[in-house]
Amino acid sequence: MSEIILEVKDIHCEYDNVPVLHGVSLRVCKGEIVAMVGSNGAGKTTTLRTIAGLLHPVSGSIRFMGKDITRTEAYALVRNGISYIPEGRRLFGKLTVRQNLELGAYTTKERSVIQKRLHEVFRLFPILDERQNQTAETLSGGEQQMCAIARGLMSDPALLLLDEISLGLAPSLVEAVFDTIIKIRDQGITILLVEQLVQESLEIADRGYVIQTGRIVHDGPSHELLEMPEIRAAYMGM
Ligand SMILES: Nc1ncnc2c1ncn2[C@@H]1O[C@H](COP(=O)(O)OP(=O)(O)O)[C@@H](O)[C@H]1O
Ligand SMILES: [Mg+2]
Repeated sequence: MSEIILEVKDIHCEYDNVPVLHGVSLRVCKGEIVAMVGSNGAGKTTTLRTIAGLLHPVSGSIRFMGKDITRTEAYALVRNGISYIPEGRRLFGKLTVRQNLELGAYTTKERSVIQKRLHEVFRLFPILDERQNQTAETLSGGEQQMCAIARGLMSDPALLLLDEISLGLAPSLVEAVFDTIIKIRDQGITILLVEQLVQESLEIADRGYVIQTGRIVHDGPSHELLEMPEIRAAYMGM
C-alpha cells in the first residue's frame, strides 16, 4: 500500500458544546483523490476545517506526513503543505485575478518562486492566464471557482482540501472543474474533497467516505460505493 499522507482518527468536534462529529476516521494516501460525500449538515465542512487547523477536535487525533497536527494552527499547516479551499470561493472581487493568485503565495516572498507557481497554475487554467488582469468579480462562476482553486495551489501544497467546489455551477462546468482536479492530482498533489454531488465526485475519486450526521457510515473504493443500492437510493435518486 502507498504511503499514508493524512490520518484522521476518531475525531469528535463540537460548536458551543454541541457535538457535531461523533468519531470520524479517515485516511488519505499519497497521490489519491479521496471524496467525502454526504448531505447538507452532515459534517463535511467541519471535518475539513478541523484538518485545516481552523477548528480543533475535543478528542481524537490527526496526523499529516508523519507528524501529529491535532493542535497545529491553520497558518502553520499552510507552510507545512496543507491548502484548504473553503466553500463559496471568497475571492477579493476588486483585485485582479493575478493579485488574487499572488495572495495565495503569501508563504513565500521569493519573486522567482511566485513567478514559477503562477506559470504552473496558468498552464493548468489557461483561462486565468487570459483573464489575469481582470478583476475577480468580472469572472463567471466557473472561472471564479478555478481562480479559488488556483489560489490554493499557489502555496505549493502536498494536500489540497476542497469544500464543495461544485456548488452553484452548471453541470457542464462541474465536469470541467472536476477534470482539472484529476490534472492537479496527476501533478503529484493529493486531494481530499467533500461534496454533496455524490455520483460525480465518486466518479473521479479513488476512494470515498459517506458521512451522515457526524459519522462515517460507508467507506471503500469509489466504484464499490457507486454500486451500493443504499447509496444509490439515498444520494443518487435511483
Ligand atoms: N459555526 C457553527 N456553529 C454552530 N453550529 C454549526 C456551525 N457550523 C456548522 N454547524 C452545525 O454543524 C453540523 C455540521 O455542519 P457542516 O460541517 O457545515 O456540514 P456540511 O458541510 O456537511 O453541510 C450542522 O448541524 C451545522 O448546523
Ligand atoms: Mg459544508
